[in-house]
Amino acid sequence: MLNDLEKRTQAQTDPNLPENLVGPSPKMAIILALETSCDETAAAVFWGEQLLSSEVTSQIDIHAPYGGVVPEVASREHIRALRPIIDLALKKADIAIGAIDAVAATCGPGLASSLMIGTSIAKGLSVALGRPFLAINHLEGHLLSPFFGTADGVSPAVGLIVSGGHTLLIEVEALGKYTLLGQTQDDAAGEAFDKVGKLLGLPYPGGPHLDRLARGGDPTLYDFPRSMIGSPDFHFSFSGLKTAVRYLLPKLQPAQLPDVCASFQEAVVDVLISKTVRAAQARGLNLITVSGGVSCNTRLREKLLATCAAQGLRVLLAPPQLCTDNAAMIGYVAALRWSTGATSALTVDIDPNLRLAT
Ligand code: KG4
Ligand code: ZN
Repeated sequence: MLNDLEKRTQAQTDPNLPENLVGPSPKMAIILALETSCDETAAAVFWGEQLLSSEVTSQIDIHAPYGGVVPEVASREHIRALRPIIDLALKKADIAIGAIDAVAATCGPGLASSLMIGTSIAKGLSVALGRPFLAINHLEGHLLSPFFGTADGVSPAVGLIVSGGHTLLIEVEALGKYTLLGQTQDDAAGEAFDKVGKLLGLPYPGGPHLDRLARGGDPTLYDFPRSMIGSPDFHFSFSGLKTAVRYLLPKLQPAQLPDVCASFQEAVVDVLISKTVRAAQARGLNLITVSGGVSCNTRLREKLLATCAAQGLRVLLAPPQLCTDNAAMIGYVAALRWSTGATSALTVDIDPNLRLAT
C-alpha cells in the first residue's frame, strides 16, 4: 500500500506534471484534516477512508489552573501548535504536502477564535496548493466516529453524542441525514462531570479523574437524582446533579470521595442509557452508537454493552482515541463527503453554534 502511496506522492509533487486533481472527484483522495474547535489542536491524514496518521496535542495543562478553557489562550496555542502538528501528521503518513488532494477543517460548533485558526490555516493551504476545502461539522465528526473502520460504514442508528459541550440523541438515516431526537436542557453530561469534579477538588477536566476514582467506590451509596429519566421525550437534564453534590459537600469526608464519584457517575450513566435504549426502541432501530469525550467513561461503556445485550440491541462505541476531540473523526467525515463529490466554498464561514440536525 505504501509503495503505491509513495509513487503517488512523487507524482503529485513533480512540478512538471499537469494539475489534474483540482475539483471534486469520487476517487481515493489524500485528505489533510484539522481540528481546533476547543482546546485540542489536531491533524490527521486520510487516504480514501483509510487513516494514515492522527496527531493530537492537548492544551489541558495550560487551561487547568483556570479550571476551564480560556478562549484567548486557546487560540494563541492553536497558532503555535498547528504547524508542527501538521508536519508531524504528514511525516507519520509519509505524505508530501504537495500530494494532498483536499484540506478539511472543523468549522463549528466550538469557540469562535479557536475555530477561526484551524479554518483559516486550512483555507490558506487550500489556496496555496490549489486543492479543494471541506468545512466539517464537529458534531458530525463525533456522531460518525463509531462507524469508522466498520464493514458496513454509516448505517441507520440512534446516535448518542456525549461531550463537554453537548448531549444529543440523533437518529442517523444515512450520511448527512440526521434527525434530532433529544438534547440536554441545561448542562452537557461532560460539563456535569467537570463541574462536579471541580466541586470535589479534582483537576480539570474532572471526567477522567471521576471515572478513575469511581472504580473504588460504591455506586449505590448515594441516591442522586436521575432527572427526566421517566419523561416521555428524549431530552436530558444534568444541572440538578451538581446541586445535589454541592449539598453533600459540608458533610463529606475524604474517604467518601470514591463513593460520591461512583454514585454520581451511576446517575449520569443510568439516564444516558435509559433514554438511548428507549429512543432506539421507539424508532425501531437496533443499532446504538455512542461518541464524544464522555463515551470514554468505563462505567458507561460497560453498562451500555450489558444493557443492550440483554435487550437484543447492537452497540458501536467509538474507539477511545476517537472519543475525545481529534482530527481523525473530521477526516473521516471529509473522506465520506469527498466520495460523494462534495467540497465547500472558501466563503463558508465558521459558526460557533453550528447545528447538526433539527
Ligand atoms: O469530546 P470532547 O473531547 O470535547 C468536546 O467536544 O466537548 O469531550 C470532553 C469531555 C470533558 O467534559 C471530559 O471531562 C469528558 O469529555 N470525559 C469524560 C471521560 N473522559 C473525558 N467524562 C467521563 N468519563 C471519562 N472517562
Ligand atoms: Zn468534541
